[in-house]
Amino acid sequence: MTVLVTGAAGFIGFHVASKLLENGVRVVGLDNLNEYYDPVLKRKRNDLLRKNDKYIFYKVDISDNKKVEEIFRKERPNAVIHLAAQAGVRYSLVDPWAYAKSNYYGTLSIFEASRKNGVKRVLYASSSSVYGSNKKSPFSESHRVDTPLSLYAATKLANESLAHAYHHLFGTDMIGMRFFTVYGPWGRPDMAFFKFTKYILRGRTIPLYNKGEMYRSFTYVDDITAPIIKLLKSKHSAGHRIYNLGGAKSIQVGVLLRKFEALLGKKAEIKFEKMHIADVKETNADITLIKKDVGFTPRVNIDDGLKRFVDWYLENETWLSRLKDAKQ
Ligand SMILES: NC(=O)c1ccc[n+]([C@@H]2O[C@H](COP(=O)([O-])OP(=O)(O)OC[C@H]3O[C@@H](n4cnc5c(N)ncnc54)[C@H](O)[C@@H]3O)[C@@H](O)[C@H]2O)c1
Repeated sequence: MTVLVTGAAGFIGFHVASKLLENGVRVVGLDNLNEYYDPVLKRKRNDLLRKNDKYIFYKVDISDNKKVEEIFRKERPNAVIHLAAQAGVRYSLVDPWAYAKSNYYGTLSIFEASRKNGVKRVLYASSSSVYGSNKKSPFSESHRVDTPLSLYAATKLANESLAHAYHHLFGTDMIGMRFFTVYGPWGRPDMAFFKFTKYILRGRTIPLYNKGEMYRSFTYVDDITAPIIKLLKSKHSAGHRIYNLGGAKSIQVGVLLRKFEALLGKKAEIKFEKMHIADVKETNADITLIKKDVGFTPRVNIDDGLKRFVDWYLENETWLSRLKDAKQ
């Protein structure tokens, strides 16, 4: 079996590709290794994947539909896991064009190449941010999602609409995965786990939004890869489906910061900032559906996951601390 993974040098893509390779699957990885955050980290992830003979990598921008179609024609993937995107909620106010290019055009290009080349099943990354100003908690897939609060969320919603149309028109199984704040080793430098660790260790000031009174369903990355692999084969993945993939419990960001301080044995320097206009106050995943369909249960609790992240960071601190700051 050949699975094409977009964003393979990214955080989640790297973990998904690693898991597939461990299971003996041939993986075709696509990534443009862009500079939203330091590509040194992306190259290191990709170098690890390249050690496996069953991994083939193409440095390509997925919005380049001609090149993407050539790759599909050559590699003939049986399934696609589309994870490449311009991520980040706040940065979407700074450079909306990057989101239009990667998330609109890029996604269209992957969906179109998939259907032209007879790919039967496409799994693609959506986001908890599509719930926008939804006040019902926990967030369920049956809730309305028509109030995105960021341009990033709007592009992810557009991907879900596009997927619906592709299924309707061509019968492709289109499986949307709404990820809830994923963390773990090899994680993203623009996200809280990385920033809290780096800033506390270096004595840098951490901007804490809304006094830390924001809640997130933090999700350990292995708890995401396991259901993704199952969704590739599950009979429930037939048709157009959307799943929440999130941690079992929502946690306050301020409480999380205290946990980092305790683990690192050092107090954080904090500057309070008011809540960012593109942020949502709370994400809380209702995971009933994914539990029912593929037996998903988040296994790694926040304290264990946090320790695994900090251990990885400390083991690699020499080069990690030299990475350029991510764009914000
Ligand atoms: N990490 C999270 O908490 C989270 C939460 C919700 C949704 N998501 C979604 O999950 C997916 C993976 O996220 P991640 O955390 O691994 O992010 P990431 O930024 O680490 O990975 C995305 C990868 O895609 C690549 N990429 C971006 N635009 C591209 C383009 N035009 N052509 C080719 N490659 C391109 C980047 O270089 C990067 O390596 C994304 O779609 C993201 O929006 C992530």
